[in-house]
Amino acid sequence: MLLRGARILIIGGTRFIGRHTCLAALAAGAEVTLFNRGQSPSDWLAAHPGVHQVHGDRDDPAALGRAFGQDYDAVYDMIAYRPEEIRPLLSPPYAARIGHLVVCSTTSVYAPALYQPIDEAHPRGPHPAWGDYNKGKNAVEDMLAAAQGVRATVLRPQWVFGAHDYQQLAAFYLMRLAAGLALWIPHAGVAQLNWTYGPDLAQAFLGVTGLPEAAGHAYNVCCDETLTTDGFVRLCAQVLGVPADIRHYRPEELLGELRGQRVGPVRNLPLACSAERIKALCAFRPTPMAEALVRTADWLRETGAFDAEPSTPVEEYLNARI
Ligand SMILES: NC(=O)c1ccc[n+]([C@@H]2O[C@H](COP(=O)([O-])OP(=O)(O)OC[C@H]3O[C@@H](n4cnc5c(N)ncnc54)[C@H](OP(=O)(O)O)[C@@H]3O)[C@@H](O)[C@H]2O)c1
Repeated sequence: MLLRGARILIIGGTRFIGRHTCLAALAAGAEVTLFNRGQSPSDWLAAHPGVHQVHGDRDDPAALGRAFGQDYDAVYDMIAYRPEEIRPLLSPPYAARIGHLVVCSTTSVYAPALYQPIDEAHPRGPHPAWGDYNKGKNAVEDMLAAAQGVRATVLRPQWVFGAHDYQQLAAFYLMRLAAGLALWIPHAGVAQLNWTYGPDLAQAFLGVTGLPEAAGHAYNVCCDETLTTDGFVRLCAQVLGVPADIRHYRPEELLGELRGQRVGPVRNLPLACSAERIKALCAFRPTPMAEALVRTADWLRETGAFDAEPSTPVEEYLNARI
């Protein structure tokens, strides 16, 4: 679909993934409306006076009504975690006013995998490690799959990283490496993962928009490279031009209040994914991981984030042991 002049509503478009998507949609010439509560900092929008903002809670019917002051060629829902949240978009009067609904889900909807890598044919289902997040996202996807008369597409990113990532998924590793600190990795560091670069996910939203063949389908969105945890850390070190001081530990050794805690934000849940389906559908081409990490590191440098380096309690414990 030609995005120039397309009217796009982004529900939750100010913080991380939504922010990248908003900027990508603007760059493509779309007319963007953002719907959010107004709690996340949005001073960056001052540089984009053409963006229309509606403030309100998505659970408030009156606020949702204000967001639908016009029809939209596409609605990007960044923050549907429960079926109650998505239901109004699939019902009158809004369903008929949305040309294409694209919903941000997650690869955490998949049931535990017997084999890897997995693609979209792998069954969704309960996953003990993901609890309510998995249940809520699956319920949202169930509702989308059952919806009649709505053109809806689901995107499933994995661990998302890049500029503005408040969870600091990749930044956690980059910051420690830049500071010359040891990185503690669970077990032998061989768990395999794919990552999703935030700006790539934004391109996936744009890429599927308006494609009739995308309706009723879900797509994994991730970088091509499947990396072990150690491999990811080594790649981070390589792009920074520093040595990687990797140390392994056994999470079972953590006792007392450290039990169940992890060193950093990324969980030790191996999942190798394939994004070949969306690559076959549209022009989506993921950024090479090394390049995405360089850009993330550049952003951390520019924002001074390399200077902030608190240790997590598990790191303090492990560092004290050596
Ligand atoms: N980060 C990852 O690694 C990852 C991986 C897989 C999937 N995902 C998926 O990515 C999505 C999260 O994206 P994100 O990290 O960009 O989200 P986020 O940073 O938490 O942004 C949330 C956005 O939604 C707005 N918002 C929050 N609650 C709202 C409400 N009740 N009503 C209206 N607006 C609301 C926020 O603005 P205000 O605070 O101003 O309201 C903000 O614009 C989720 O669907 C998640 O499942 C993320």
